[in-house]
Amino acid sequence: MSKQTILVTGGAGYIGSHACVELLQAGFKVVIVDNFSNSKVESLVRVEKITGQTPTLYQADIRDKQALSDIFAQESIHAVIHFAGLKAVGESRQQPFNYYHNNVYGTLVLLEVMNEANVKRLIFSSSATVYSESTCNQYAEDFPLGAINPYGRSKEMIEHILRDISKADTVNKSVSPWKIVLLRYFNPIGAHESGMIGEDPNGIPNNLLPYVSQVAIGKLEQLSVWGNDYPTIDGTGVRDYIHVVDLVKGHIKAISALENQQFAAGNCKAYNLGTGTGYSVLEIINTFEKVTGRPVNYKIAPRRAGDLAECFANPALALAELDWSAEKNLDDMLIDAWRWQTNNPQGYQ
Ligand code: NAD
Ligand code: UFG
Repeated sequence: MSKQTILVTGGAGYIGSHACVELLQAGFKVVIVDNFSNSKVESLVRVEKITGQTPTLYQADIRDKQALSDIFAQESIHAVIHFAGLKAVGESRQQPFNYYHNNVYGTLVLLEVMNEANVKRLIFSSSATVYSESTCNQYAEDFPLGAINPYGRSKEMIEHILRDISKADTVNKSVSPWKIVLLRYFNPIGAHESGMIGEDPNGIPNNLLPYVSQVAIGKLEQLSVWGNDYPTIDGTGVRDYIHVVDLVKGHIKAISALENQQFAAGNCKAYNLGTGTGYSVLEIINTFEKVTGRPVNYKIAPRRAGDLAECFANPALALAELDWSAEKNLDDMLIDAWRWQTNNPQGYQ
């Protein structure tokens, strides 16, 4: 049997590059489209070194309809995993147009081309940020949505668009209806265990783990812990950190699930990808120091605007319907993040 081809948008990025490794190792042919706005081609050189296989690369913007149509004409695509997009919450407040144009309009162009090519299997990178603030800290898929920043709203809008087009197809009993999985990521961290690919943020990182690693290696002076007066175990923010390799394995399970009964007549379903366990910022710092033997210089600072006290997944649905659950623990995540950092102190440069 010939290999199924998966088109990976944003395949050179942090999560996309890890997905390419797992897809190639699982026996898929991988075609990547990336404009390298937030990644480097070196990540794909490393994917090749890890797997001994070469993914096909198209350097293009997903908003370029002609370029996308050409790719669909050239390749026999079975399904699309759609990672491409902008993802920085703070930046999205300063450049909302850019975020809606890249994320929402980019997705519309992709959907138009997929529809024309009659490729209607899609796995979409959504985020826990689509949930509205709740009195319960453990989020299940049926909780109300209500993102509070342009980045989150772009993800929420895309979810609505995908649900609507899928519904219209199933109501009209389309011969080949859309089959769509929305994966709501909690906090992906860590790196491939080879230490060859990982997260390579531009400039000063916004997210906790890259910041902690860069303080530990001496690139940054001190971590600010944003608030220690939250109603949590030690007053600092609690999140559901998930190993990036566990996360991308969820995508491979989702591709198989598209062939299951619940997608037989077309469907669009959301699944949380998280471990179900939350850790505080201080727990992260303490565990990082324990597994790496490196001190992390930090100070307590005021709360960061827009942060929740506590947020973690109820991952039961992904286990029941995708046969997926996270396998790696916090030590694994932090050891792998540190290996990537020490092997690549300047990232991919
Ligand atoms: P990333 O920035 O490392 O990867 C995104 C990739 O998409 C980059 O390689 C970038 O060059 C490419 N890209 C961006 N816009 C493009 C366009 N218009 N055309 C073609 N390529 C384009 O980000 P990541 O952390 O790997 O995240 C992947 C996806 O997962 C994103 O959609 C993000 O919103 C989502 N997500 C990430 C997190 C997280 O914490 N990392 C959490 C929830 C959801
Ligand atoms: N934190 C600090 N200091 C820092 C950075 C973060 O104390 O320098 C704290 C935050 O206050 C929070 C926790 O560490 O309590 C995690 O913060 P991150 O910025 O790493 O992650 P967030 O949970 O704020 O957001 C991340 C992504 C979003 C995504 C969300 C849910 O950045 O894009 O997870 O998936 F939407």
